[in-house]
Amino acid sequence: MKTEPIVILSTRELDKMRQVGRLAGQLLQHLEPMVKPGVTTLQLNDEAERWTQAHGAKSAPLGYKGYPKSICTSVNEVVCHGIPNARQILKDGDIINIDVTLIVDGYHGDTSKTFLVGTPSPKAQKLVEVTEECRRLGIAEVKPGAKIGDIGAAIQEYAEAQGFSVVRDFVGHGISNIFHTSPDIPHYGTRGKGKRLRPGMVFTIEPMINIGTWEVEVLADGWTAVTRDRQLSAQCEHTLAVTETGVEILTLA
Ligand code: MF3
Ligand code: CO
Ligand code: CO
Repeated sequence: MKTEPIVILSTRELDKMRQVGRLAGQLLQHLEPMVKPGVTTLQLNDEAERWTQAHGAKSAPLGYKGYPKSICTSVNEVVCHGIPNARQILKDGDIINIDVTLIVDGYHGDTSKTFLVGTPSPKAQKLVEVTEECRRLGIAEVKPGAKIGDIGAAIQEYAEAQGFSVVRDFVGHGISNIFHTSPDIPHYGTRGKGKRLRPGMVFTIEPMINIGTWEVEVLADGWTAVTRDRQLSAQCEHTLAVTETGVEILTLA
């Protein structure tokens, strides 16, 4: 639970968020064609780091609370925070979430997408589609006057109606010149509850949706979060700003 006040960004800060957000979206787009059977998650990491430096940006995860790599690569039953590794070779039928966060001029852009490797099962493909729809529905709730609980309620209603579950242990977050700050944005909850959204607030929506149980466990490396039942999990993320009239997605390429 984060306790910092929720900040309202100035137009100058919002401009910086737009710049870094777009670059983060472009990095995801740049990595997409590499996602093929035979590539290792370390190769994805190293290309991300190279591209990031070439564009004058920094990788926010590298060294963050001791995190050892530049991106997170979460394969199949990994819910989030999978660590790229030279021995982890993608194979036909896998799903992989790539989560990138860049820093430009002190401001953060955070986005992720779950990619299909070759041809995953119909169930896995449905999971990925439902997860993207969850993000879309969550974003559609964002406007001045709405409550934070409206976002999670929309996501949870749809995910559960499709027979899937919503992870509770990781939530969206405020983001600006701090990587993770207030407010928390749960992907489950109750309409009308929580703080009111106001223009200039910036936060992520990043639902993690599971085929089986919503419960997760963190492996001995201290980072890798997996589903307790080892069934598949998918995620996607955007960084967003509340505008005077609705919402602006900052992490589109
Ligand atoms: N990008 C992740 C998020 O969406 C956070 C990764 S923190 C790390 O909030 F240290 F694991 F990289
Ligand atoms: Co992220
Ligand atoms: Co995030």
